[in-house]
Amino acid sequence: MIKNIKGTKDLFPEVTCDIQDIERHLNRFMHIHGYGEIRTPIFEATELFSRSVGEHTDIVNKEMYTWEDQNGQSLTLRPEMTASVVRSYVQKQLWKIEPISKFYYIGPSFRRERPQKGRLRQFHQFGVEALGSPYPEQDAEIISMAYNIYKMFGIENLSIKINSLGSNNIRQKFSLELKETLSKFKSIFNESELIRLEKNPLRLLDSKNKNIQNILEKNTPNIFDYISNDDKNHFNRVTNILDSMNIPYTHDQKLVRGLDYYNRTVFEVTSNDLGGQDALCGGGRYDNLVAQLGGKEIPAIGFAAGIERLLIAMKLEHNQTNNTDIYIINLEDELIEDSMKISDDIRKDLGVAVYIDSLRRSLKSQLRHANKLNAKFSIIIDSDTIKDKAVFIKNMETKKQERILSNDIISYFESE
Ligand code: HAM
Repeated sequence: MIKNIKGTKDLFPEVTCDIQDIERHLNRFMHIHGYGEIRTPIFEATELFSRSVGEHTDIVNKEMYTWEDQNGQSLTLRPEMTASVVRSYVQKQLWKIEPISKFYYIGPSFRRERPQKGRLRQFHQFGVEALGSPYPEQDAEIISMAYNIYKMFGIENLSIKINSLGSNNIRQKFSLELKETLSKFKSIFNESELIRLEKNPLRLLDSKNKNIQNILEKNTPNIFDYISNDDKNHFNRVTNILDSMNIPYTHDQKLVRGLDYYNRTVFEVTSNDLGGQDALCGGGRYDNLVAQLGGKEIPAIGFAAGIERLLIAMKLEHNQTNNTDIYIINLEDELIEDSMKISDDIRKDLGVAVYIDSLRRSLKSQLRHANKLNAKFSIIIDSDTIKDKAVFIKNMETKKQERILSNDIISYFESE
C-alpha cells in the first residue's frame, strides 16, 4: 500500500466543507478591505527564496523541498508566499501602473519541519501583502486585519505581540553584537546552537534552552534599544492607531521573526489553545525586498497565517454541512434514464442539491441514505407511477408522501 508522505494530509468532505466556509469568509473579508486575490505558482527558482527569506534561515538551510529539473535548473516548492508575490510584482513592474497594490492569497506552502500538532510539511496559508505605502497607517491596517480575521472566526484566546526591528542595517548590527556577546558563553552551547551562533544568532533569541535564556536576560540589550528615533516614532504612531481601533497588543522587545527580509514593524498573533506551535500568524514590514529582487525602492508590509492552526483554534467538530436538498430514489434498471433526466432538470431549473443513488439499492436502504444526507425530500421513481407520468415525493421530515405529475415536479418545489 502506498501511503501519503509524512507531514501531509488527505482532507475529506467533513473537513473541506469547513475550509471552504473559511475561504468564503476570507474572500469576503478581503474584498471589503480592498484586497484582491493573487495566485502565483507553487514552485519557483530556488534562488528566489535564498535571496529573500535568507540563506542562513532555518527555512532555506534545512526545510526546503528543492530539486533539479531535467535542464539542471534548481527549483523549490514555495515555503511561503511573500517572496513569490514580490517576484511577480517586480516582474510586472506594477508600481508603474498603481502606486499601491494590495493582494491576498490562500494556498499550500511546503517546509520539511518535524511534523507535530499544528506543524505540517504541506500546510496552507492565507495572507496579505500591501506594496507601496511607507506609512504607519498601513502597518496598523495590516495588524488590525489579522486581529479582526480571528475575531470573525470567533477566536477569543488571542494575543498580538509587536516590535520594531528598525531600518537600514540595525538588524545586522544587532546580530553581530549579539554574536559577540554570546560567543563568550560558547562552552554551554550544543552543536546546533553553535551553528546558529555562527550563521544566524538572532535565532537564539527564541531558544528553548533555559541557560541561553538566562544569558540573554542578563547580558544582552533588546533590538528595540538599537533603533533610530525615526523608527521609534513610526512604531509609536502604529501603536497609537491600534489603540484608537481598540486592537489589543503587547510590545515584545524580543520579537525578531525567523525570516531575513523584515525591517521596522514585526508582529505575531498567538493563541494559548495551540500549545507548542502557538503562532497563528506572523508578518511585518519588508521595505527593502522589492529593490533586493530587482525592483524599485518600494516599501511593503504583510502577514501570513496557517489555516491548519486556525482550524485547531476554532475547535470545529467538522459536521459536514453541504446537505442534500432532494434525494432521487430509482427502483428499476429501465428507469435509470428517466431518473437521471429528472435529477438534471431539477438541478438546472432550481439550482438545488440533488443526490442520485448509483448503487441500485433497495428502497429501504436508499431512504436510510437520504436521511443520513439530511435530504429534505426524496423523489421515488417506479414503473407503476412513471407509466402514468408521475412520481412520489416524500417530505423526509413530516414523512408525508404525495403523488405528483412528472411535469409538475419543478412547480411543486418552487412552491415549497
Ligand atoms: P511565517 O511566520 O513563517 O511567516 O509563517 C506564517 C504562519 O504560517 C505561521 O504563523 C503559522 O501559522 C503557519 N505555518 C508556518 N509553518 C507551518 C507549518 N510547518 N505547519 C503549519 N503551519 C505553519 C511567513 O510565512 C511570512 N511569509 C509572513 C509574511 C507575509 N510576512 C510578510 N508578509
